[in-house]
Amino acid sequence: MAPRQSRCMKALICASVLLSLVLYWCGLAASRTGDENVIWRSAAVRPITTGIDFSSLFTSAFPEPSCDPGQVLLILVTSAPWHSEARQAIRTTWAAPVQTPYSWQTVFLIGHTSDDQVTEEIEKEQQKFGDILLGNYLDTYRNLTRKVLHGLKWARDRCQPEYILKTDDDCFVNTDGLPTFLTEHNTIRSGLYAGSLFPREKRMVIREPSSKWYVSRRDYAPDLYPPYASGIGYILSLDAVDVILHAAEYVPPIPVEDVYIGVLADVVGIQVKSSGRFAKHNVKWRVCNYRYLMVIHHLNPLEQELAKENMIKARTACQNSTLITRWK
Ligand SMILES: *[C@@H]1O[C@H](CO)[C@@H](O)[C@H](O)[C@H]1NC(C)=O
Ligand SMILES: *[C@@H]1O[C@H](CO)[C@@H](O)[C@H](O)[C@H]1NC(C)=O
Repeated sequence: MAPRQSRCMKALICASVLLSLVLYWCGLAASRTGDENVIWRSAAVRPITTGIDFSSLFTSAFPEPSCDPGQVLLILVTSAPWHSEARQAIRTTWAAPVQTPYSWQTVFLIGHTSDDQVTEEIEKEQQKFGDILLGNYLDTYRNLTRKVLHGLKWARDRCQPEYILKTDDDCFVNTDGLPTFLTEHNTIRSGLYAGSLFPREKRMVIREPSSKWYVSRRDYAPDLYPPYASGIGYILSLDAVDVILHAAEYVPPIPVEDVYIGVLADVVGIQVKSSGRFAKHNVKWRVCNYRYLMVIHHLNPLEQELAKENMIKARTACQNSTLITRWK
């Protein structure tokens, strides 16, 4: 080896040893403070923590729903394997196909169950309706983050809708109003993340291990979550989904789905928009409220039917009340 080349090699080796030391020291310092923020806020040391492993969530053993690319809205509904009655109520009410100027579609997100009979029924349901996206994870409450991230990733890769609404199978969605509102009135065309927010005192991290919403300091170190939209329903524009999915590759997952989306949005600098159009409670909403409300939480199958009737009545009955065209 020529002397010049060998000097070059030495310098290169020195440089890489030095870089490894710096990276190692950064990792050590971050783990000492116990603050995971330090890790993902610093781009150079990202690989130390891992986020969602997306490839593990997909399964080829179950047919996927089909979707036309370029629709206005894709509605992702988290559902438990054994909630076939709730899904059927949704299919015959707000998700039933109608003539609309703006295209939209509904897909149910479901995970694995060890109950063979339920699995068989889901296979039959999929053959009949083709609207189930089955993920490769055990369907439990603490796996909801996996379920939603799988749905978002699938939607972004396969469907590319302009907007995605994430909601639950005990919610009503105003499919008369929402695609039209998004197309004709929404002014936040990029970086949209909108829903029903929680006040500050409801954003304290729950450290009680027996709670449904327990989160360890290891999963999330700060005591307060950033503002986030309730999982009953939030809307994301496709570009917001894009950056959120990218952040999910390195931000450690939090087992509370709506919190994790809020944390990811915060990391990438997307501000959540608070809107009264997402109702956490199913009170006796009047017919004309159905011109404003986009998501209502807490409906059983019978209440889904009543809500749909009101939505249809609101098409014609409320011409004299002014239509609100803002998010708030
Ligand atoms: C989530 O799903 C994975 C993959 O099936 C499973 O190994 C894990 O036990 C599940 N976690 C919880 C908390 O249910
Ligand atoms: C709307 O207002 C007009 C004029 O005030 C009235 O004649 C009509 O009956 C009203 N329609 C409804 C559906 O309330």
